[in-house]
Amino acid sequence: MKILFSFILSFIFLVFWSCSDAGDPLSNDCTEGLDCAGECGGTATIDVCGECDGSGLNSDDCCGDSSSCVHYSTEIQPIFDANCTPCHITSTRNNLSLSNYTNIMSGNSTNGPVIVSGDHANSLLWQKVNSGSMPPSGQLTSDQINLIATWIDEGALDN
Ligand code: HEC
Repeated sequence: MKILFSFILSFIFLVFWSCSDAGDPLSNDCTEGLDCAGECGGTATIDVCGECDGSGLNSDDCCGDSSSCVHYSTEIQPIFDANCTPCHITSTRNNLSLSNYTNIMSGNSTNGPVIVSGDHANSLLWQKVNSGSMPPSGQLTSDQINLIATWIDEGALDN
């Protein structure tokens, strides 16, 4: 019984061993190294979503959506910090604090939400920056305004 068992084991081992040796002879000729797509000397890399040559940039929250992927903490809050929090730092100043995610989503202390998740056109905050009325000193760049719209349309995530 023992002999039969070890015979089976070594047979299994042999099968696996011979399989692992059966590589593609062509890839052995590649001196530059293979990229993640198996191309010799290629430049494809694995993105944050684990996809080879994918377009995921900086958040795994948006993986699966290859068109865009806005990251609140590194792309949206910095816009507010640079342009809005001098006046919107606490909810007692102008009734709206844009200092962190919770405050932004709770909105104006008397008028209610300024973000309608998934719908930038109906979000008061986007309307104000798009019309140029906020910040009062001058309009944000169109890239920044579009980024805020995309973030809202992607669900205004705390990502
Ligand atoms: C110089 C000060 C100042 C800066 C900077 C500023 N705001 Fe304002 N904001 C105000 C004041 C004052 C009000 C209230 C009066 C008004 O609605 O015009 C206001 C109102 C708002 C409202 C309307 C709130 C409501 O419910 O009526 C939004 C939304 C808003 N600001 C967003 C922003 C955003 C986004 C930024 C940065 C891109 C910004 N603000 C920068 C002073 C400022």
